[in-house]
Amino acid sequence: MNIGVLYSRIRRDEKLLLNELRERGHEVTKLDVRKLRFDLSEPPAALSACDLVVDRCLATSRSVYATRFIDSYGVPVVNTPETAAVCADKAENSLALAGAGVPTPRTEVAFTKETALEIIESFGYPCVLKPVVGSWGRLMAKIDSKSAAEAILEHKATLGHYEHKVFYVQEFVEKPDRDIRVVAVDGEPIAAMVRSSEHWLTNAAKGAHTSEFELDGTARDLVARASDAVGGGLLGIDLMETGSGSYTVHEVNHTVEFKALDEATSIDVPARVVDWLEAVATQEVVA
Ligand SMILES: Nc1ncnc2c1ncn2[C@@H]1O[C@H](COP(=O)(O)OP(=O)(O)O)[C@@H](O)[C@H]1O
Ligand SMILES: [Mg+2]
Repeated sequence: MNIGVLYSRIRRDEKLLLNELRERGHEVTKLDVRKLRFDLSEPPAALSACDLVVDRCLATSRSVYATRFIDSYGVPVVNTPETAAVCADKAENSLALAGAGVPTPRTEVAFTKETALEIIESFGYPCVLKPVVGSWGRLMAKIDSKSAAEAILEHKATLGHYEHKVFYVQEFVEKPDRDIRVVAVDGEPIAAMVRSSEHWLTNAAKGAHTSEFELDGTARDLVARASDAVGGGLLGIDLMETGSGSYTVHEVNHTVEFKALDEATSIDVPARVVDWLEAVATQEVVA
């Protein structure tokens, strides 16, 4: 197989993936998204040889547009542009989860700071304000008071870029000091970990402590349904425990990192990812 890896920076995650692909004898085409030109009909030469392209872009904008172009040339790409578009935006993500009946935190969106403040006041304190585009816990606000809400809303409205004009307000979920990250392929979990921190943000990128987690039937069912809700693929599904064996899914990520999961668990995560890529590439070649 010739597997294209679309990237902007080769991190440890991409190294793990490239090593696994090469060890299995696949040809790898490294596609630096910063250098590619996307024509309306002709694919860049490097793309034509690929049986399958894996999107590993860090920047959401690149991921969303590049997968869209690659798909338009008829070159198979994971994740699909449809999945990328849903996962790239927290409002889209929430709508997809709620639409599929997957438990997700109560969320409302507004477009002015006055109306956003009304939502916040009706949710009560603390509550959470998130940028609709972003990851690694960046620019997330836990709001404890009306005066804090007013200040943050004014800062966003005055200083924020385009996407900060969309005010995404969420109830604060009283989770234990951890959340759960599952990496799954088409809804089938590869591995899961808990990310524990004294800070309310439990992202691995924020320094949370990680350890392996055994998923129960309820969590597995939610992972499958959350994956379906966003169109499937290689996904990072984030859940919080809400007590007495229940969970809520707060987001699904489409260019998932797996280095922390690989280190935290006994599972060979890159190997399982490549198993899935091989299966998808084979299907595409046959089709
Ligand atoms: N509604 C919430 N209540 C409590 N904690 C939350 C809530 N939403 C997110 N968190 C915490 O913040 C972290 C980052 O939130 P998330 O929505 O996953 O954004 P990001 O895309 O930046 O990772 C989560 O891993 C979780 O620990
Ligand atoms: Mg997250």
